[in-house]
Amino acid sequence: MSKLIGVLTAGGDTPGLNAALRGIGKAAINKYGMQVIGFLDGFRGLMENRSTRLDLDTLSGILTKGGTILGTSRDKPHRMPVGGKALDMTDVIYENYQKLHLETLICLGGGGTQKNALRLTEKGLNVITLPKTIDNDVALTDTTFGFDTALSIATEAIDRLHSTAHSHHRIIVVEVMGHKVGWLALGAGLCGGADVILIPEIPYDLNKVAEAIMQRSRGGKRFSIVAVAEGALSKEDVKESAANNKSKEDDTIDTALASLLTQGGGHTMRLANRLEELTGLESRLTILGHLQRGGAPSAADRLLATQLGTASVTLVEQKTYNVMVSVRDGRALPVPLKDVAGNRKYVPLDHPWIESARRLGTCLGDD
Ligand code: F6P
Repeated sequence: MSKLIGVLTAGGDTPGLNAALRGIGKAAINKYGMQVIGFLDGFRGLMENRSTRLDLDTLSGILTKGGTILGTSRDKPHRMPVGGKALDMTDVIYENYQKLHLETLICLGGGGTQKNALRLTEKGLNVITLPKTIDNDVALTDTTFGFDTALSIATEAIDRLHSTAHSHHRIIVVEVMGHKVGWLALGAGLCGGADVILIPEIPYDLNKVAEAIMQRSRGGKRFSIVAVAEGALSKEDVKESAANNKSKEDDTIDTALASLLTQGGGHTMRLANRLEELTGLESRLTILGHLQRGGAPSAADRLLATQLGTASVTLVEQKTYNVMVSVRDGRALPVPLKDVAGNRKYVPLDHPWIESARRLGTCLGDD
């Protein structure tokens, strides 16, 4: 009997998910004679046993499509909202997996999905994961699919904001996704030539940001572009939260961030307003939001998703389970899921992109 693979997409959608599903499905069917079913809406579909057969017809024409043909959700197996309560449904998931005689489950997701997948391996499921997220914050992989597309979208947005900022002599604060890490804001800020880049890894000093803008203004540049990650915090935000919580710095940053994020863009609006007050220059805020996750994947994301998707099926054939298929120096490489789950890939403070920004004279809010 041919092997049956189950696949699901979980967490926020990302360009390249369909390319990866196509890679998994075509490699499984064409190369290894396996069969594939896709669970709908992430782990919820696996728990409710809602799935669809992924045959060659279904997989045709999806390479270039954004989103995920399977649907997704942020539901977690161990805290699944059911009837108004959050219940541990891992046993139900285990039973469904057994009933269907799945050889393995392939989960396409970001940091949260890696943790959820690890929990399922602890129940006895054979799991393989692929790293996808526009945030690029999954540990032990050089990059994640979705990031390159989002980087291009955010870069184009910054390019376009330049001409209007320049014409009106304004500060434009552009909020880029990334609630815990600054890969996207830093990358797009560098590619788009932002004058200030603020990321969660470097708490910023508002006065230093204002001074950098004033200095440009004194030099004849009466406009500035500030690229800010949605999770970037000022030093005051961090301090305030520390005073309120009397907790360790890491917890403090998480708590401050959680409170800022519930304000839904409120803190970046406040940043734009404060910069206007401190510099006397008119300012505006642009929140790029979900635009960054929409639409067709870039060529690089199609390549990466196809490479990782097809490689994951070879791992099924070899019975290599409980791993994430990472990309290292261009090669697909299995890494133990237990080493990935719970470890976030922050921008290292000595990363070459940070060094380039500093050499350019871009203000990062700290000096
Ligand atoms: O994790 C990907 C991401 O796009 C983050 O950058 C962002 O903070 C979050 O998802 C938004 O989540 P949602 O689509 O659930 O609002």
